[in-house]
Amino acid sequence: MKFSKLIKVRESCRDFDGSRNIDVDLLKKIVKEGGIAPSASNKQPWYFRVASKKEDVEKLRVLLTENNVNTFLSQCPAFVLITKTEKEAPIDTENNFFRNMSSFDCGAACSHLILSASSLGLSTCIIGYFNREKIGEFFEVNEEEETLMVIVAIGYAKSDEPRAKKRKSFDEICEFI
Ligand SMILES: Cc1cc2nc3c(=O)[nH]c(=O)nc-3n(C[C@H](O)[C@H](O)[C@H](O)COP(=O)(O)O)c2cc1C
Repeated sequence: MKFSKLIKVRESCRDFDGSRNIDVDLLKKIVKEGGIAPSASNKQPWYFRVASKKEDVEKLRVLLTENNVNTFLSQCPAFVLITKTEKEAPIDTENNFFRNMSSFDCGAACSHLILSASSLGLSTCIIGYFNREKIGEFFEVNEEEETLMVIVAIGYAKSDEPRAKKRKSFDEICEFI
């Protein structure tokens, strides 16, 4: 699929087909392609934890939809937690260079991952709204060493008809200087 088409068909899915699971090799490919993203000093400050076994997925669905948030996740067959493995410390405080790059890098990896999924006919939704403590405990993240960033919900969408994108106009987001 051409890149310009890929970025148009990629959209946040909130209507997963709960009856379709994802092949583990497909999940591996998607995560590998996430890890191809560029990063400052090529530090690759990310780590991916994939939950796709039925029992784990069921537990996660409960945690992620607690208090009636993101309830569509009750149909999602796989989740990828992305953590940041570097602290946000300025490398060069005097010149103010290279600040806050790790979060930016994780965003790039996440973007690669979701586009990879779309290119393979899968759908995703980035989930930023969740209880960090409970999810960290579930995935056994040592928060002294890693920071929870987002969870990517992955599955097959019930409908493959893309919605129109709601985006700022070109002039609002860009100027040529
Ligand atoms: C960091 C981040 C966190 C997000 N968290 C959620 C979330 O918790 N629940 C949700 O339904 N969508 C979430 N989204 C999806 C956005 O709402 C969505 O990307 C945006 O509205 C644009 O729509 P599109 O992805 O369909 O193009 C998140 C997106 C990002 C980038």
